[in-house]
Amino acid sequence: MAVTHFNPTCSKPRLHSSQLSFLSRTLPRHRHCSFAPLHRTQHARISCSVAPNEVQVPAVKTLDPKSKAECYGVFCLTYDLRAEEETRSWKKLINIAVSGAAGMIANHLLFKIASGEVFGPDQPVALKLLGSERSIQALEGVAMELEDSLFPLLREVSIGIDPYEVFQDAEWALLIGAKPRGPGMERADLLDINGQIYAAQGRALNAVASRNVKVIVVGNPCNTNALICLKNAPNIPAKNFHALTRLDENRAKCQLALKAGVFYDKVSNVTIWGNHSTTQVPDFLNAKIDGLPVKEVVKDHRWLEEEFTEKVQKRGGALIKKWGRSSAASTSVSIVDAIRSLVTPTPEGDWFSSGVYSNGNPYGIAEGIVFSMPCRSKGDGDYELVKDVIIDDYLWQRIKKTEAELLAEKRCVAHLTGEGIAVCDLPGDTMLPGEM
Ligand code: LMR
Repeated sequence: MAVTHFNPTCSKPRLHSSQLSFLSRTLPRHRHCSFAPLHRTQHARISCSVAPNEVQVPAVKTLDPKSKAECYGVFCLTYDLRAEEETRSWKKLINIAVSGAAGMIANHLLFKIASGEVFGPDQPVALKLLGSERSIQALEGVAMELEDSLFPLLREVSIGIDPYEVFQDAEWALLIGAKPRGPGMERADLLDINGQIYAAQGRALNAVASRNVKVIVVGNPCNTNALICLKNAPNIPAKNFHALTRLDENRAKCQLALKAGVFYDKVSNVTIWGNHSTTQVPDFLNAKIDGLPVKEVVKDHRWLEEEFTEKVQKRGGALIKKWGRSSAASTSVSIVDAIRSLVTPTPEGDWFSSGVYSNGNPYGIAEGIVFSMPCRSKGDGDYELVKDVIIDDYLWQRIKKTEAELLAEKRCVAHLTGEGIAVCDLPGDTMLPGEM
């Protein structure tokens, strides 16, 4: 199959069969349409703009393909946002790549991003959606729904199954796609299967993404997937890679609010330490309720150490039991929170949790793993680790347990991180939050 790029301004279709149904629905809306073959692979790719009336140059400009290899048709036109009163003050378009884009989490997330809720009402966005051969039809459906939503800030949508194409110039990569653990599958197998995916995506980011791309890994096991990804992307700063533990932070805040009988906006300074698994450590020692240490507000310390901790660790599993599938809406909300925490200044005195590369951490946690820790940001996309946290014996013991789990996972994927031969000696009780 030739790779095609949907150009709604010219002619001569040469199509992936799965595109035909999409196009038959789309064609009547365009007077002239054509499909130009891309060279790299066999993968389908459709791009579209939802705001053709914003295009300033009326005629198609033929560019030298070498100067802009992926520029075809309408996307070779110049969008002069300064020409319109309404869009004059808008920022420069940003490229956001999303993997697993046909899945439930992405389906919630993409519409939030396109609406301006995530990056702001003056930030135009290009969505670059990565799916699989199996999900390409569904991905077309996602692109069609995005078109039909007429989001003013959504300037481009492209879909594809080749990360080398989809990640081109990505400034954000939200990596959601991962295989779920199937019946009878060992955790080591899951680490290997998803690790292969994240190694390939790391290499693709390294080759084609912006040098300062910010990467948020959501697909499980997300800490070790993030480690594999960053190790395969040596030209991108390791600091730019995150594993999503914001969902766990949000879950911990909710449980503390419930116990204290306050609304959850009163709960702050919650850290999730370690792995997004059942060894994660929701930190009630440094957390605050209405500005007071949690332990002063919640006097039942046994509840904090046992019930609270376990509830947060296993919340994903409790949700799977109810839904019959993993959480999707709250996960997408927490991805939004994670991004907003990096693009807006952290409120004075507070912090947020993110799984980040542990090198240079001030807590004495082993280096060379992706470990969730307390972070602050100036709102520039970067972060620094919070230094003034208390770590007592209880907390340290639990940090060491989740650290041991991550070190074992790391040894199990050594073949994917360029660190030699894999040895899988995973602790018996190591589980994803969704595994019971
Ligand atoms: C969650 O925390 O909800 C998910 O990571 C659960 C899972 O294992 O899919």
